[in-house]
Amino acid sequence: MTTIRAVVKGVGHYLPERVVPNAEFEKTLDTTDEWIKSRSGIERRHFAAEGQLTSDLAIRAANAALADAEMDSDQIDAIVLATSTPDQTFPSTATKVQAAIGMTRGFAFDVQAVCAGFAFALANANALILSGQAKCVLVIGAETFSRIMDWTDRSTCVLFGDGAGALLLEAEEDKGTPEDRGILATDLNSDGRFSHLLYVDGGVSSTQTAGVLKMEGPEIFKHAVQKLARTAESALERAGVAAADVDWVVPHQANLRIIKSTAQKMGVPLERVVITVADHGNTSAASIPLAMSVGKQRGQIKQGDLLVAEAIGGGLAWGAVVLRW
Ligand code: ACO
Repeated sequence: MTTIRAVVKGVGHYLPERVVPNAEFEKTLDTTDEWIKSRSGIERRHFAAEGQLTSDLAIRAANAALADAEMDSDQIDAIVLATSTPDQTFPSTATKVQAAIGMTRGFAFDVQAVCAGFAFALANANALILSGQAKCVLVIGAETFSRIMDWTDRSTCVLFGDGAGALLLEAEEDKGTPEDRGILATDLNSDGRFSHLLYVDGGVSSTQTAGVLKMEGPEIFKHAVQKLARTAESALERAGVAAADVDWVVPHQANLRIIKSTAQKMGVPLERVVITVADHGNTSAASIPLAMSVGKQRGQIKQGDLLVAEAIGGGLAWGAVVLRW
């Protein structure tokens, strides 16, 4: 029986020009390059320039994905953009991208699931394609977490970075087997009982300010190592494939120790994990599409490869997507 699949047609990313090495933080905080590197795997991150908005990064990534797919914006039916750092409370950052890339039809909206945002955005895009509401969907993860850092809090501000990544998905009919290209399965989860472990201490209805990020890092760490392998395995099972079949794990890039422990739990060797955390830091919803784009540029990810992407973030919200590139 044939089925519709959401197939990757293009990928692209954008990182702001300014690169900040760990050593910069030694000037203002009681921290060291060595501590940051050994506890998180992060060596440097990119920060957006003054006045550079999340939509600016998203537009660059979107245009890169369109160029990679050799497609025009008038071929896109929908934009789903994952961010927790939108330009404004409203309108959505997605509609700003829509206007900037010259898309005058279809629809665009944001999704917000913090660091798991791209998994949620991909699942939404997949549902739009499978239900026939859209044939071609641009899925973007874009963040400027530098805007919500407490620069006096060494336990958080050294971990995050800015960036954007985008995937262009298009409906294709295929056989309905695990050998098909495209999204094969998704697995989404959240548990609001843990919202106090990772949050921003501001918001429209509470303080009327944007607030800054607060995180109980070691507690999040424990949840991450418990939940990530499980969500990846659930998605793989739904897709009808095994961890041994996976060519590339594309994890959320928060901490190298979490990435290693998840791969180990899944029984996937580290050589089959796309790792960008040293250069990007944690870019929240942008981290997975950034890693996919960089993974393709490096020659790691090739057409036909089986990928599983997994992420966890504030909410707590976590999930995984299995797709054949
Ligand atoms: N430099 C030096 N020391 C520091 C720094 C720093 N930059 N930051 C924290 N410390 C200290 C703390 O004060 C603490 O000291 P204390 O024990 O005297 O109180 C100690 O280091 C804690 O160290 P560890 O126990 O080694 O902490 P851990 O190994 O858990 O590493 C880290 C901390 C890197 C934050 C880790 O817990 C982590 O990555 N957590 C998960 C983050 C994550 O995955 N986030 C994903 C979602 S993000 C989102 O959704 C927005």
